[in-house]
Amino acid sequence: MSTERGKGTVAVVGGAGAVGSSTAFALMESSLVGEIILVDIAEERVEGEAMDLNHGAYFTSPVRVRTGDYEDCWDADVVIVTAGASQKPDETRLDLMERNADIFADMIPQITEGLNDDAVMLIVTNPVDVLSYVTWKVSDLPAERVIGSGTVLDTSRFRHSLSREFDLDPANVHAYVVGEHGDSEVLVWSSANLGGIPFESYATSHGVDDIDALKARVEEEVREAAYEIIERKERTNYGVARSVAATTERILGGDNSILTVSTLVSGEHGIDDVYMSLPCTVNQSGVRDVHEFDLSADETAALRESAGVIRESIDRLDL
Ligand code: LAC
Repeated sequence: MSTERGKGTVAVVGGAGAVGSSTAFALMESSLVGEIILVDIAEERVEGEAMDLNHGAYFTSPVRVRTGDYEDCWDADVVIVTAGASQKPDETRLDLMERNADIFADMIPQITEGLNDDAVMLIVTNPVDVLSYVTWKVSDLPAERVIGSGTVLDTSRFRHSLSREFDLDPANVHAYVVGEHGDSEVLVWSSANLGGIPFESYATSHGVDDIDALKARVEEEVREAAYEIIERKERTNYGVARSVAATTERILGGDNSILTVSTLVSGEHGIDDVYMSLPCTVNQSGVRDVHEFDLSADETAALRESAGVIRESIDRLDL
């Protein structure tokens, strides 16, 4: 950790945007964060965000928010990247690829050329799997230190949805979304459980007659969540900010938490050379382990298809 008080420094690139500033707001609650550096090409706006955030610091654990440029990221323990274009109604995450890949090709080397060796890059900009791969490629950083926010948010949406179906504490819902953070993502029902009780037994013993209908309802809610929100408020920010802040805390705290971050997949489930989400153990060195857990045959096929969607997009870029 780089600050004197033994707390972490986090840079947020894209700090004037809705996702960046909401992430900074969420991070201010963390006792592990001592300094937040907001970086953005919109200089005046980012100054305003820093001022506004600092005015709430009296009520949070001691944290200083300041603005900086790409070089200021070199001191950070975690660099969160939210910069770039975001989805308009009716756009998919992949529609953003070319615009944001160009921004990344120019921006990432400026951030990483002087980055400290222990820093972790946490990519959030969509399409997050493709841009995490781009970051890894153009930076020469070890893959374990380049993480995408991936399906941490979708996993949280899945748990939220199941917790509401069964009126349960979300902390008792264990279920993952893996693959692309996007339309081809895979909800893993085969190992989903409620307090250790397998999903299907729990559902049957709690009076659910039509399990397939419940699954279809939850699948749609999770997969369509961002579209539904963007249609109503033009963007998503709080859910993603909360999940990125939580991921950052797990990195800084060295908690060895299992999270579905986007990572370089090298052979797991027969998939190679793409970034996508699988359950990973995360700590201060980034991704410690990628877990190749049991999937049903259908889930494995869907995961491979999802990897294919990401791979096809990566292949369209000139890397
Ligand atoms: C969402 C955006 C972050 O899913 O992709 O809300």
